[in-house]
Amino acid sequence: MSDDKTIKVLFFGDLVGRPGRYAVRNFLLENDYTNHFVIANVENASHGFGLTEKNYNELSEYGIDCMTSGNHIWDKRDIFNYIDKADKLLRPINYPEKTLGKGSSIFNFNGYKIGVINILGRVFMNLVDSQWEMVKAEIERIKKITPIVIIDFHAEATAEKICFAKYCSELGCSAFFGTHTHVQTADESIINNMGYITDAGFCGGKDGVIGMDYTTSLNRFLTSIPERYEIADSNSQQINAVEVEINPNTGYAVAIKRIFCSRNEVEKENSQ
Ligand SMILES: [Fe+2]
Ligand SMILES: [Fe+2]
Repeated sequence: MSDDKTIKVLFFGDLVGRPGRYAVRNFLLENDYTNHFVIANVENASHGFGLTEKNYNELSEYGIDCMTSGNHIWDKRDIFNYIDKADKLLRPINYPEKTLGKGSSIFNFNGYKIGVINILGRVFMNLVDSQWEMVKAEIERIKKITPIVIIDFHAEATAEKICFAKYCSELGCSAFFGTHTHVQTADESIINNMGYITDAGFCGGKDGVIGMDYTTSLNRFLTSIPERYEIADSNSQQINAVEVEINPNTGYAVAIKRIFCSRNEVEKENSQ
């Protein structure tokens, strides 16, 4: 995984609350990823739901170059006040046209241009616009500017993710990361020159239920009564990420590596 002529991309699965933010911060401090284009899905980064402006600024300082999101991006009220000026932040592209924010952007990184598109799936999800024709047009638009196109597809159903990924690979996409389930899949591969994983997983408290507290999750299932979710309060955190190397001339992925590691950090202060 170290060819000077490739662009290296590091993608973090959904950051959940403060444990997720701090685990990623420390992971980036302890490992040298300065020559990587770093992307993180941040839809759960502020106490499990949405992203405050304060946390957006905090994550920007950690060295994250691009933030993608998903269905939870609207959960904190102040998103509506800052999303249009948050250059690094994407919300899914297939919300209706008048929705605030943007679903696609081209980033300048080490002299290269990198296109990133964030998209929502539609199977077992709240209905949004169809992504199929939309992504085709957006990839074609980006490819007139750069051969490097990266997608975060935020979706529930694995079959939809696999089928959509194959479709995007045929359109010349460079890397495709599934998100939303918070459970990392072990199917990383290169299909049609595109780095692929069905789900990148999540970063956050390891001993809960996909990053949230076990007891409150259990109560919801036992009683069917809504109970406020809390962040998993565990001393052990996990980092779920994926590294992809891309040839900048062709836009082809040439290597992919999955990262799944645990850390032990006591970050209990207010666990916001
Ligand atoms: Fe999520
Ligand atoms: Fe989600």
